[in-house]
Amino acid sequence: MNPLPLSATTTCPDTRPVFDRLWRDHGPVAPVELEPGVHAWLVMGYEELKTITGTPRLFSRDGRDWRAFRDGAVPPGSPLGPMMSFRDDVTGHDGDEHRRLRRPIEDAIAAVDHRRLRRTVEYLCRGLIGAFAGRGSADLVAEYAATVPLLAIGGLIGFAPRQSRELRDALRARSGSGEDAREGDRRFEALLGGLLAERRERPADDAASLLLAHPDLRTEAEVRQSVAVLVSGGNHTTMSWIAQTLRLMLTDPRFAGRVRGGRLGIDDALDEVLAIAPPMINMPARYALRDTELGGRAIARGDALVLGLAAVAHDVRAHAGSQFWQRGNRAHLAWSAGPHACPARDPARTIARTAVATVLHALRGVRLAIDPADIEYEPSPWTRRPARLPVTFTHADPGGAHGRRPGHRP
Ligand code: HEM
Repeated sequence: MNPLPLSATTTCPDTRPVFDRLWRDHGPVAPVELEPGVHAWLVMGYEELKTITGTPRLFSRDGRDWRAFRDGAVPPGSPLGPMMSFRDDVTGHDGDEHRRLRRPIEDAIAAVDHRRLRRTVEYLCRGLIGAFAGRGSADLVAEYAATVPLLAIGGLIGFAPRQSRELRDALRARSGSGEDAREGDRRFEALLGGLLAERRERPADDAASLLLAHPDLRTEAEVRQSVAVLVSGGNHTTMSWIAQTLRLMLTDPRFAGRVRGGRLGIDDALDEVLAIAPPMINMPARYALRDTELGGRAIARGDALVLGLAAVAHDVRAHAGSQFWQRGNRAHLAWSAGPHACPARDPARTIARTAVATVLHALRGVRLAIDPADIEYEPSPWTRRPARLPVTFTHADPGGAHGRRPGHRP
């Protein structure tokens, strides 16, 4: 049997039958194809996921340990590169080096003032809603979910709103190809360099200043990498969390009714999305450092193992006799586990909760403008996010003239 292409798990209309089938055919560790001829294991079992994320001396996070890269099976320039090749930042190291690079990021995240973040995000969201309020229609992905996280994270780092918008445009260009991508990269680096130069002169109450002053970061390059990882770790993930929650609200009357009726709080709704439609549906990757066995499979040294953070919801062994997936239970693995687990759950939640609550309160009579069956998903093997959520609404109240300024009492 040929291994399933991994992207079949992200672009299909419904993931459930796909994961049920993978489980039925293979058990907790399934062979998958990342691109033609390039194979990996999709780890779907709860215990197996805990093992690979919690045992870095056996399963490394360093892309240089992947045999397919080393022996040239994955050519340079492959679309797998950005997510799977070695990155000289917190995400690419294990052990002491990982702990050293992670501490500054954890400190920057611990310093976030959530009340201020909420007000800033509310303000940003109202501005975005204000831009389409008079039209009676909008695309809640392009005009909302895709923009909120970057503006919010840009603000935490220390960028002014105008610079965060430039950052967003630079990143969009960077993910394109050819000249656009190079120009996007250049603008991204220039914005980052400008902010760091400014904060070196005049530190402020933001993550850039904290990282610049952090004793564990030894060079300007490490500070830049740490800022870049905050942007890259938070942008698409939080965007997807917001978009998937809005999609469920718009397509599942049971879910929407429970939220509108107050039986399901916004946080419970967000948790339900983490359990059934996590932002990183398949998370790259761990690399086996020696021949071993996992979930009954022989794993060879140098094999890649992808974290099946959505497929784990289908692990009946983890559900049996437990409260595992029940509402309010936060025991899913959407944030992964072990030393590399996402360090930013709290700010991500503040951003997502505020974005979802603000748009739900602002729009009356909101409806999806297309058949739910016609919702298309972004083509990526790693995330599953609606490409568009076109809606109509009868009335919009973004809150004053595009919202109150942050700093005013709500
Ligand atoms: C403010 C928003 C966010 C920021 C700044 C952020 C930042 C980061 C960083 C820096 C890492 C690397 C940690 C390390 O390698 O030690 C990471 C990992 C990760 N994050 Fe986040 N993140 C954000 C939102 C999210 C969201 C919304 C999700 C999904 C619910 C998520 C899921 C993950 C996962 C699955 C990993 C990888 C863990 C692994 O490799 O085992 N993140 N995040």
